[in-house]
Amino acid sequence: MAAEQPTLLEGLRGSVAADLVAVDATIRRELASDVALVNQVSEYIIGAGGKRLRPLLVLLAARAAGAPPLGPQVMAAVVIEFIHTATLLHDDVVDGSHQRRGRDTANEVWGNSASVLVGDFLYSRAFQMMVRLSSLRVMEIMADATNVIAEGEVLQLMNAHDPETSESRYLEVIYRKTARLFESGAQIAAVLAGATPAVEQALASYGRHLGNAFQLVDDALDYRGSPAERGKNVGDDLAEGKPTLPVIHALRAGSAEQQALLRRAIESGGLDDLPAVLKAIESAGGLEYTARLAQGEADQALAALEPLPESVHGEALRQLAGFAISRSY
Ligand code: IPE
Ligand code: IPE
Ligand code: MG
Ligand code: MG
Repeated sequence: MAAEQPTLLEGLRGSVAADLVAVDATIRRELASDVALVNQVSEYIIGAGGKRLRPLLVLLAARAAGAPPLGPQVMAAVVIEFIHTATLLHDDVVDGSHQRRGRDTANEVWGNSASVLVGDFLYSRAFQMMVRLSSLRVMEIMADATNVIAEGEVLQLMNAHDPETSESRYLEVIYRKTARLFESGAQIAAVLAGATPAVEQALASYGRHLGNAFQLVDDALDYRGSPAERGKNVGDDLAEGKPTLPVIHALRAGSAEQQALLRRAIESGGLDDLPAVLKAIESAGGLEYTARLAQGEADQALAALEPLPESVHGEALRQLAGFAISRSY
C-alpha cells in the first residue's frame, strides 16, 4: 500500500506540473535574505521538502475553478506553504519535537529562539508576497485565517494535560490549527481565478473538510504510523499530554481501569505509559473511530465539489481526498 501512495500523489502533481516548477522557483527566490542565519534555517526546513500538499491543493483548486496555468495561484501556493512552514517552526518549539521531515527539527539544531524568529520571517514574507497579489479579498481571508490558526494552537495548549477535553473541543482545535489553512488556500485560489461565489464556497468547504480529515488521520498515525515513513516521531501527542481523538474515544468507551490509566497518562504526559495506552485505544476501537470520522469528512469534501464543472483538476481534487484518508505518511 505504502508504495502506491507516492504514485497517487505523483499523478496528481503531474496535472499541474508546470505550476509546480514555478512554485519551486518562487520558493527559491522568495527565501532569499541578506541575514545568513535566516537563509540557513529556512533552507534547512524548506529544503527537506515535505509533501507540499497545500500548494498542490491551491494549484488544483485554481485550475478546477477555471484558471489558466501559471497565473497568480503560483504565488498563492507559495504563500500558503510559507505560512504552513512558519507554523511548523513554531509548533515544533511549542511541542518540543525532535524530528520533522525526516531531519532533526530546526529547534534541535539551532535552538528555540532561531526557530521562532525564522518562523516570523517566513510568516511576514508570506504577507509581503500577498500584498503583491493586489487582492483585498485575499488579504482579508488570509489575515482572518492566520489569526484563527494562532487561536487554535493556543486552544490546544489549554487542552493539554486535560483528560476532560471533549470531542467537540478537539474538533474545534483541529479545524482552527489545520483545516482553516486548507480552507483558505482553496478559497483564495477560487478568488484569484475569478470564480463565482458558489464555486468559491464549494472550494472553501472542500478545503475545510479535507483539512479536518487530514488532521484526524495525522492523529491516528501518531499512534500507529511508522516514524521512518512519516519523518516525525510517533507517540509525540501522548508525550505532550495532548488529548487527541483516539484517546478521547478510549476515555469514553474503555473500562474503568483503562479510563483511570488514560487520565493519568494525559495528565502526566511522557511515554512511559505508551504500550498500555495503545492497548486501551485498541480495545476501545479509538483508531477505527477516528478513521470513521476522517472518512465522514472526506465524504463531505467530495460532496462539496458537486457545484464544480467536470474537469481533470476536479477529479484530481477527488483523488486528493482519497489520499488524505489512506495515507501512511
Ligand atoms: C504537518 O503537516 C502538520 C499537520 C497539520 C499535521 P504535513 O503533514 O502536511 O507536513 P509536511 O509539509 O508534509 O512536512
Ligand atoms: C499541526 O500541529 C498544526 C500546526 C502546525 C499549526 P501538530 O503538532 O498536531 O502537528 P505535528 O504532529 O507536529 O506535525
Ligand atoms: Mg507538533
Ligand atoms: Mg502541535
